[in-house]
Amino acid sequence: MRRGAASNGHEFVGYRDGWRGPLEADDVPLGVPEVRGILPRGGTILGSSRTNPFATDGGPARIAANLEAAGVDGLIAIGGEDTLGAASRLHSEHGLNVIGVPKTIDNDLSATDYTFGFDTAVNIAMEAIDRLHTTADSHHRVLIVEVMGRHAGWIAFHAGLAGGANVILIPEREFDVAKVCDLVGRRFASRFAPIIVVAEGAKPLGGVPSQGDDKLDSFGHARLGGVAHWLEGEIERITGKETRATVLGHVQRGGTPTAFDRVLATRFGLHAIAAADAGEWGTMTALRGTEIKLVQLTEATAELKTVPASLYEEAEVFFG
Ligand code: F6P
Repeated sequence: MRRGAASNGHEFVGYRDGWRGPLEADDVPLGVPEVRGILPRGGTILGSSRTNPFATDGGPARIAANLEAAGVDGLIAIGGEDTLGAASRLHSEHGLNVIGVPKTIDNDLSATDYTFGFDTAVNIAMEAIDRLHTTADSHHRVLIVEVMGRHAGWIAFHAGLAGGANVILIPEREFDVAKVCDLVGRRFASRFAPIIVVAEGAKPLGGVPSQGDDKLDSFGHARLGGVAHWLEGEIERITGKETRATVLGHVQRGGTPTAFDRVLATRFGLHAIAAADAGEWGTMTALRGTEIKLVQLTEATAELKTVPASLYEEAEVFFG
């Protein structure tokens, strides 16, 4: 914003609530005064929604017409798989001038090493695990922590490894409850109590009984959550050890962002403006090592970036 407005003479508007804004021409003027002081704030001052422009009749055409009427030359879309998947299609199928910026706690966008929001969520989950060790050890209980991440186990993997979890369960690998119970026994045998980190999308071999109401959002995603409570019952039944589940839920998405996320978001912003100036539409800013590069939105959204087996195996050394 500062680079675009102060150095390059651009004007900005912000669209409210994700794709609902450009669909309904709900925009607000956005200048340096409006964004001053937001660095330590989580969330978004513009609001968010799960509006899918492709699930709305004539959605893409309405967006194109509203952008033209407002004199908008290009749109910078900030979000995850759904937001940027729509951005990619709006560019490739409807010729809209769009640049993507990867922001999701799930860290599941291909073509970038990290998305912003992820590091903050991992640190919140790690701190929760640190605190849960106290009760696990004092009360000799099995404690399960359920974290978000949808179909990717990045949050579980990083928070679990950083927090010294004894078992980490991720969606990329179906888990065997009997094996989890063995690891629980091994941990108790070492006179410590186990902490299990389970990703909301993780499933036992043979599938898990449905936890929610199977309601789908406009991108076709079911609401996940609850596997920890199912696992709690199974572990208690098999091992006879008192087991308690904590579901972190939206706590992971709240509060103040970490320094890493603030720096990453700021650098993505600078590079997104440079990309717009250069007319590099249909691209996304991406972190590669320590450099910010531009990649094609289609490449970034074609498939989810999930935890590779080799990385998961690194954490398995510490199980039990
Ligand atoms: O994509 C981010 C995310 O927090 C996922 O990890 C989670 O499954 C989902 O959003 C929850 O979405 P909502 O707050 O709409 O239920």
